[in-house]
Amino acid sequence: MKKFVVEGGNKLEGSLSVKGAKNSTLPIMAASVLCSEDWVELHNIPDISDMHVMAKILKSLGAKVIYNENRLNLKVDALHSCTIADELMREMRSSIFLMGPLLARLGEVKVTYPGGCSIGPRPVDLHLKGLEALGAKVREENGFITASASSLAGAKIHLDYPSVGATENLMMAAALAKGKTVISNAAKEPEIVDLQNFLNAMGANVRGAGTETLRILGVQKLGKCSYRIIPDRIVAGTYLMAAAITGGRLLLKEIIPVHLDAVVAKMKEAGIEIRATEDSLEIIGGKLKAVETLRTLPYPGFPTDLQAPIMALLTVADGHSKIMESIFENRFKHVTELKRLNANISVEGRTAFIKGVKRLSGTEVEATDLRAGAALILAGLAAEGTTVINKINHIDRGYENIEHDLQQLGAKIKRI
Ligand code: UD1
Repeated sequence: MKKFVVEGGNKLEGSLSVKGAKNSTLPIMAASVLCSEDWVELHNIPDISDMHVMAKILKSLGAKVIYNENRLNLKVDALHSCTIADELMREMRSSIFLMGPLLARLGEVKVTYPGGCSIGPRPVDLHLKGLEALGAKVREENGFITASASSLAGAKIHLDYPSVGATENLMMAAALAKGKTVISNAAKEPEIVDLQNFLNAMGANVRGAGTETLRILGVQKLGKCSYRIIPDRIVAGTYLMAAAITGGRLLLKEIIPVHLDAVVAKMKEAGIEIRATEDSLEIIGGKLKAVETLRTLPYPGFPTDLQAPIMALLTVADGHSKIMESIFENRFKHVTELKRLNANISVEGRTAFIKGVKRLSGTEVEATDLRAGAALILAGLAAEGTTVINKINHIDRGYENIEHDLQQLGAKIKRI
């Protein structure tokens, strides 16, 4: 099992750009199943393990997949299966994104319950209810979920909660359904807009992404396209925080700063000086101080995926901070690990109370999930001495060669 060894205490300095968003890449790869002729070409695809798992699943269904230096070519004209093997479903929660597209394309889909990060229960009821509203017959038996429909028909769907994955699954299924679908209380994340743009590039008629109401007029078929994925706002936020926790300077280029408005606002509140242009953000200095209350929320609120990294930052900020996790029930596993590094944190229910300490001190810790792992790297960069981070396979799910990027900025981090 690989680990990261981090020597703390170096200021990060320099400039970086980030690759395409994991949370766009996975649904967009799933959506390519809707393309019944020719190739789909995707650019700016991150070389992360979740992407390779999705590629493996697509291949198991009969797709041709070629990946080369951040470009992905997919040919999905001749699918020979509508069943995803249990061992593949368990590898990644995003495998559930294939339900809508497979159902729309083949009239049937059979999956098991998906795996993924251990951040609390992650039901799929909203996905299934929405597919039923589009006319699918859904059965849940012996751990298997089967959905079938001779044809899907547009419908009005109100989501009880603006789930990112359910919104995406239903957009994809509705793209080939007969007639008009309206999804209200839809998720508004930038990755929903990216999926809409990709579907439309294939010939779909989807409007409204980025607002709470999506309008989809089904078309008969979708065809080839070439599409570039948006930059990863969560990776960008992680790197900004990495620079800030070391008291360094970082210019992040070729990003979409508006996607990070809530993050930049909280970082400024934490005393960090940030300069923005149309396509860059630059950390230019500052002295870390506590933030009174930070609450994770659906977009455009503060993203739950940056809750662990900003907690790492606040462990060394002057004063008392409070973080409330409102999206996932059990997303504080990093707290135990941060405490091993000498952080002063207590948790009551879904609220974490952080008292800033002068210095963290290096020790051996474990990445319990993807973003928790990123938080531990940040803590290690700021800690005195050596931090060893185990189970870094979680980190590789969502960050392409993170040690290389950080080394370029002067960090002492090694994969062993
Ligand atoms: C996506 C992101 C993930 C991010 C999350 C919230 C991808 C690949 N992953 O995950 O990085 O942390 O959005 O921004 O895009 N829920 C239900 N029933 C459902 C679906 C969801 O109760 O059918 C609940 C979940 O348990 C959770 C909340 O809704 O408490 C948010 O989940 P959701 O928005 O669906 O997140 P994901 O799409 O899984």
